Amino acid sequence: MDLFRKIPKHEDARMAIQMGFYPYFIPISGEQGPTVEIKGKNMVMLGSNNYLGLTNHPEVKEAAKNAIEKYGVGCTGSRFLNGTLDIHVELEEKLADFMGMESALVFSTGFQTNLGTISSMMTKNDFILSDSLNHASIVDGCRLSKGNSIIYKHNDPESLKATFNSIPEEAGSLVVTNGLFSMEGDLAKLPEIIRMTKENDSRVMVDDAHAIGVYGKGGRGTTEHFGVEADIIMGTFSKSLASIGGFVVSSEDVVFHLKHSARPFIFSASPPPAAITTASKALDIVMEEPERRDSLIKNSDYFRNSLKKMGYDIGHSESQIIPVVIGDLMDTVDLWKNLYKHDLFTNLVVHPATPPDRSLIRNSVMSTHSMEDLDQGLEAYEKIGSEMSII
Ligand SMILES: Cc1ncc(COP(=O)(O)O)c(C=O)c1O
Repeated sequence: MDLFRKIPKHEDARMAIQMGFYPYFIPISGEQGPTVEIKGKNMVMLGSNNYLGLTNHPEVKEAAKNAIEKYGVGCTGSRFLNGTLDIHVELEEKLADFMGMESALVFSTGFQTNLGTISSMMTKNDFILSDSLNHASIVDGCRLSKGNSIIYKHNDPESLKATFNSIPEEAGSLVVTNGLFSMEGDLAKLPEIIRMTKENDSRVMVDDAHAIGVYGKGGRGTTEHFGVEADIIMGTFSKSLASIGGFVVSSEDVVFHLKHSARPFIFSASPPPAAITTASKALDIVMEEPERRDSLIKNSDYFRNSLKKMGYDIGHSESQIIPVVIGDLMDTVDLWKNLYKHDLFTNLVVHPATPPDRSLIRNSVMSTHSMEDLDQGLEAYEKIGSEMSII
C-alpha cells in the first residue's frame, strides 16, 4: 500500500481552518512585543515566551547586527568541525560563570540540548526518573537513550521515592525535571527532589528553559531561587534570552563527554553568529537590569491574582505562566476563539501537550506589558467568562 495514503488526515485541524478559527501558525506581522500586529489588528500578546521583552531591546538588536557584519550569517557546519566561532566559546565561558558551574556547552536548540544530554548520559542498565509533565524534548531524550525510563507522578516526591525503591542498587540513575513547568506554571519541588536524589546516590538534571533569566535573585533560575544545586542544568535561548539555541551546564567531565558523544550536537550545524551574540547580550541585560524581573513578577502576580479572583481555575500556577484550565476540548476552543475576537493572543493547549481531559488556555505575562495591556486582557476574560458561564 502507498505509504502516503496512510498519512493521518487531521480532520479537526482542516475543519478549524475551513471555519476560520484555526488557533495555530497565526502569522504575526512585526515585532514580538507586549502587543502584536495580526492581519492589521493590534492584539495583546499573552502567548509569548519573551518574558523579559528582550527581543526588541536596542542593544540586543545592535549585537545581532554587529555579529552579521563581522561573521556573516551562518556557520555551515557542526561545532565539532568548522562550526565553532570564538563567540560560541566565549558564550560558553560566560554561561558557566553565570550559572556557577565548571563548564557549559551550547547547542543549536533547547530541544537538541535535552535530546543530546539525556541520551548521552545513559547506558542500557541505567534509569531515568522523569516527571509526568516534563517537556516533550525530555520525553524524546528518554526515548532516544539506551537507558530505562520511569515516569513519576507530577511534582510528587512520594512517587519519586517509590521509583527509587524499584530500581536495582547497582544501576546509575538521573532524575530529570522541568524547574518551571511550561504549561502549568508551577515550580518543581527541587529541595525535596534534590535531597532524595542525594540520599539515593542518584543525580539530578533540571530543565530551566522557562526560569533562567526570571527566577532567583540573579536570574539563574529555580536552583538559585530555592538555594539548591543540581548536577546538570539546561536552558534555552529561545525564551528570556530572546534568541534561538540551547545550553547545558555541568561538571567539566560531563560537558567533555557530551561534546564527544551527543549526536544532536555533533551532527547538526551550530547556531549562527547573530543568535549567539543576541543570547550573550541578553544575558548581560539579565545581569544588569534586575528591574525587568521585578516588573515581570509584579505583572504576573497581578494577572494571576485577578484571574483567580474572577473564579477561573488557574491550577497550581505561581509564575509568569498562567493556565486557565477548562478541561473539555470544545469548551476550551470556544474560549480561545472568543478571546481572539476580543484581540487577545493566547495559546490553546490540548493533548498531547496536556493530559486529554485537561485542555487549557496558556497565558504568559511579560515584564514589558503595561497595566493597560493586562487590564484589556482581564476585561475580556471577565466578560467572556461570565457569558460562557465559566466564572
Ligand atoms: C521546558 C522546555 N524545555 C525545552 C524546550 C526546547 O527549547 P527550544 O525552543 O530552544 O528548542 C522548551 C521549548 O518550548 C521547553 O518549554
